[in-house]
Amino acid sequence: MFSVRVEKVIKYNENYSTIFFDSYLKSYPGQFVMVNVFGYEEIPLSLSSPNSVTVKAVGKTTKALINIPTGELLGIRGSFGKPFTPTNGKALLIAGGIGAAPLFYLHDYLKRKGVEVKVLYGARTQEELIWKSRFENVVTSTDDGSEGFKGTVFDLLKRERIEEYSKIYCCGPEALLKKLYNYFEELEILSKTEFSLERYMRCGIGVCGSCVLENGLRVCADGPVFRGDEIDF
Ligand SMILES: Cc1cc2nc3c(=O)[nH]c(=O)nc-3n(C[C@H](O)[C@H](O)[C@H](O)COP(=O)(O)OP(=O)(O)OC[C@H]3O[C@@H](n4cnc5c(N)ncnc54)[C@H](O)[C@@H]3O)c2cc1C
Ligand code: FES
Repeated sequence: MFSVRVEKVIKYNENYSTIFFDSYLKSYPGQFVMVNVFGYEEIPLSLSSPNSVTVKAVGKTTKALINIPTGELLGIRGSFGKPFTPTNGKALLIAGGIGAAPLFYLHDYLKRKGVEVKVLYGARTQEELIWKSRFENVVTSTDDGSEGFKGTVFDLLKRERIEEYSKIYCCGPEALLKKLYNYFEELEILSKTEFSLERYMRCGIGVCGSCVLENGLRVCADGPVFRGDEIDF
């Protein structure tokens, strides 16, 4: 474990913040770090850039983290896990809620490489679309219609010409991922999709067995990013 200092915190609203570190981590989009919030737990978080994590408060540790003062120290292990595989063709990014965190890093990475990127970004309410102005070429949806299309990101997807995309990257709540998976399976295009999965983690390095999927793959070491045809929802 090593320490980083909190350099900047952007608090979007009561439940969401991006925490910037004072150092850049050697990493690729899709990888995660184990973050030790001193006095609380050590939790897995995807990198939203080489020097940041973006957090939704759901329990004690994430609540403490989104309110952390600048100058505080955090313990870090990582970067860990298998990242997204880049593409040279057109890329479609599908983000649900806080699932946008690793896709934000991927978005910037692909744009820098000159890749054409489109983002479908959905959340429950306008408040949760924290990155809508930072993504280029983005279409948004909200469940309550407070911003963008009224409906889900899955409804947005059904309006897309899927065959135009060489790679489709997905991250979001399990129910959304399952729906996307079933749709891509029906279209027989799972091999060009990638899913970032979340499971309860302890060691983060493939040893403890707490993040194992039904097919035996470990989310921390064999993922968290899996090709659609490697998993089964
Ligand atoms: C690879 C990976 C990447 C992640 N990236 C992000 C990220 O970029 N931003 C972010 O906000 N969150 C991310 N998470 C989820 C984050 O780790 C959990 O929200 C956090 O551990 C909850 O800790 P807590 O002490 O605040 O809440 P707890 O009190 O531990 O839990 C509160 C609620 O969150 C659920 N929860 C706890 N741990 C996890 C987990 N590992 N996965 C899913 N649900 C969990 C619990 O079941 C409970 O319902 C990621 C998880 C994984 C495995
Ligand atoms: S968290 Fe220990 S094996 Fe994945």
